[in-house]
This record gives sequence, structure tokens and C-alpha cells, in this order.
Amino acid sequence: ITDIGELVTNDPQHPDGLDAGGTATGEDALHAGLGVIRDAAIVVGSETEGEASRIQWVGRAADAPAADWAVSVGGAAVIPGFVDSHSHLWFGGDRSAEFAARMAGQAYDGGGIATTIEATRAARPVDLVDLVRGRVAEMRAQGTTTVEIKTGYGLDVATEAEAARRLREVTDEVTFLGAHVVPPEYRDGEAGTREDYVDLVCGEMLEAVAPHVRWVDVFCEPNSPYAFTGEESRRVLEAGKAAGLGLRVHGNQLGEGPGAQLAVELGAAAVDHCTYLSEADVEALAGSWADGAAGTVAGLLPGVEFSTKHPYIDARRLLDAGARVALASDCNPGTCYSSSMPFMIATAVREMGMTPAEALQAATLGGALSLRREDVGAVRVGMRADLARIDGPSWLHIPYRMGVPVVRALEV
Ligand code: NIG
Ligand code: FE
Repeated sequence: ITDIGELVTNDPQHPDGLDAGGTATGEDALHAGLGVIRDAAIVVGSETEGEASRIQWVGRAADAPAADWAVSVGGAAVIPGFVDSHSHLWFGGDRSAEFAARMAGQAYDGGGIATTIEATRAARPVDLVDLVRGRVAEMRAQGTTTVEIKTGYGLDVATEAEAARRLREVTDEVTFLGAHVVPPEYRDGEAGTREDYVDLVCGEMLEAVAPHVRWVDVFCEPNSPYAFTGEESRRVLEAGKAAGLGLRVHGNQLGEGPGAQLAVELGAAAVDHCTYLSEADVEALAGSWADGAAGTVAGLLPGVEFSTKHPYIDARRLLDAGARVALASDCNPGTCYSSSMPFMIATAVREMGMTPAEALQAATLGGALSLRREDVGAVRVGMRADLARIDGPSWLHIPYRMGVPVVRALEV
């Protein structure tokens, strides 16, 4: 891939802001940590036997080795594709009216999830697969090359297992979210009590789903009557861990609560939302990375704040304390029906105190860290050739041209 005007590598090996002659351009603060190479080229190996194509060489175009063929990007900027570490794409139905009601002042409490459960249970799996594939294509068209997708709108053994199995055909990062909410039939007593539902999630449902998923997640939110308490969440996470799954948590979305510290205590890879964090939560998240430990990433989801009118998070509080953050879409029919990582970046820059470089990194490397992936999120030899191009001279056009579709996955 040649004629890359500006390449973001996320690799500290490349000093920031060097021009083609290797001279520092004095833009270090602006590009801090992004490992920018100007007038760059990338050599990509071809895809073999279902294995993704890998990066073989990265550097200045003038130094590039000969390759079998060359594709010019005509001076565009290139970045690692976005790693969206949180989405719920397996759903049917429509909740746009609920969004309108919230914009008119109605609060979000998770109650609307039941509407989507009903629509998803009623839909044919083949139609849901089509919907998911369409949503993934929409993400790719906006620069996302890795996406985590959760189950969680079936909430009975058959529907959750079907979702997990089908999602596995779409992404390597499938998450079991049987503990999304207590489904209606376990709230009105028709099928049992909420305790019975937690038993089902930790037992038969987990067993049916586990072969298809990498992660288990729980909506830990004592501030919603539909979601799970700290103790219920602990049960679900411990059962998932015993089944060999990695842990993720929805926590601290509607108010302060036990989610963030529970995630750290159990060694979860991520706690997402983090809209309401106490000082102790921030300390725990930062402390989880002490001494080189694989800690808990705080996943920030600004589209949710937009769509529920909760306050935007002050990301500086987390970053300055030494916590690691990811930006993700949380694309779902209730709290954020946007799959746009560029929107999340622009919002983080405008409203959350992040520099453009921090926001871009949180949407790429941050997502990779959240998914504990070392093969995506940066442009480095041996990593997947998952790249995105920007129609413009600089990666800065992502927040600068907010709302304009300037980023798309690069087909190599
Ligand atoms: O991540 N908070 C829990 N789950 C989703 C929203 C689900 C819905 O409202 O349909 C979220 O925000
Ligand atoms: Fe979510």
C-alpha cells in the first residue's frame, strides 16, 4: 500500500511527527503516542487458507522493499481499523419512539429492553443474521475492522444459544449476556423468581452457550429494577470464569454501584459505561494495571450519554489517574443506535476532555486492550492488516469533520 500521506501506527517505535526526510516536525504534542509516519508504505502478505492478511513491513515509502503489486491510496491518511469492544447487534424490532420520548425528558431505566426481547424472540434467526451482517457492514463502512458482539435479547436457553452460534460466524469476539435483564416471565413469577433466572443463566444457559463464546458479561446495576445486583453479578461472572470464559461487565451506568470494583476484583478485561465512578472506583481501575498486571479497561460509551441524556464522563479523571480506557459504540436499539466510532471520537474530544490523539488511541489500541488482543489496534509487523483510510490529509479529520463519512475500512 503506497502513497500514504500520514500513517498512524500506534507503535512507539516510530517517533511522532517526522517528515519524509526523518526530521522532527515539532508536532509531537498533537500526535503524542500515535507513532505517525509521513509518506509511508505498508507491505501486506496475502490471505492464505482463511488466515487474515498480515503486515510484513511498515516504514517510509522511500525505503519500501519491492512488492508483487502496489495499491495507491493517493496521499490519504491511514490508521489502524477501529476496534469496537462493545456492541449488541443481535436484535429485532424498533425503539425509535423510546429515543424520542427520552429526548423529551423521559428517563432510561432498562425497562425498554423487554420490547427488544419480544421482537427478537419473534424474529427468524436467518433474518437476525441478515440484520447483524448489515450492521457489521455499516461499521466497516465507517472504519471498524474488529467488533465484539453480545447476545442478550433472547434470554431463554434456545434463543441465546442460537444467537451465540450464529454470531460466532460473524466475529471472533462473541459475548454471552444472558444476564442482561431479568426477563419478564421471571419478574411476574410465571416461570419463576429472579433467583431462578440467575440459576438458569449460571447453569443450563451458560452450558449451551459456552462453546460459541469467548466472554461472559452482566448488566450490574442496582439502580435499575430490571438489571442485576452486585451479588447476582458476582455469581454470573464466577460461573462464566469457571466455564473458561473471559469477563466483561456493564457497570456504573445509571448511578454509582459495585460494577467497577467487582470487575477489578474478579480480573475482568473491561467494565463498560463508567458514567458514575467514585474516587475508589477510579483508584481501583488505575491500580489494576500496577506492576504490569493485565488490568481492567474502562470502556467509555459516549453515544449512550448522548441518547440517554446522562452527563458525559470526564475521561481526564481516569487518564490522569493511570487507568486505561477504550472508546466503543455500544451499538444497541435502546441506549445508542449508532455504530459510528468516528462519532464516539468526536464526542470524546468535544465533551470528555480527551485530546484527539487519546481518543483515536482509545478507539483502536484501547479496544484491542479491552479485548486482550495483540493482533489488532496498531500497524506493526505480524499484526493483522486491518486498516482504515481517511479521505483527507490527516487522521485529525476524524473529529475535525464530525458527522462526515471520511473514514472507511481499507480493503487489502
Ligand atoms: O449497554 N445497559 C444495558 N444494556 C444496553 C442497553 C440495552 C437496551 O436498552 O436495549 C447498554 O446500554
Ligand atoms: Fe451495552
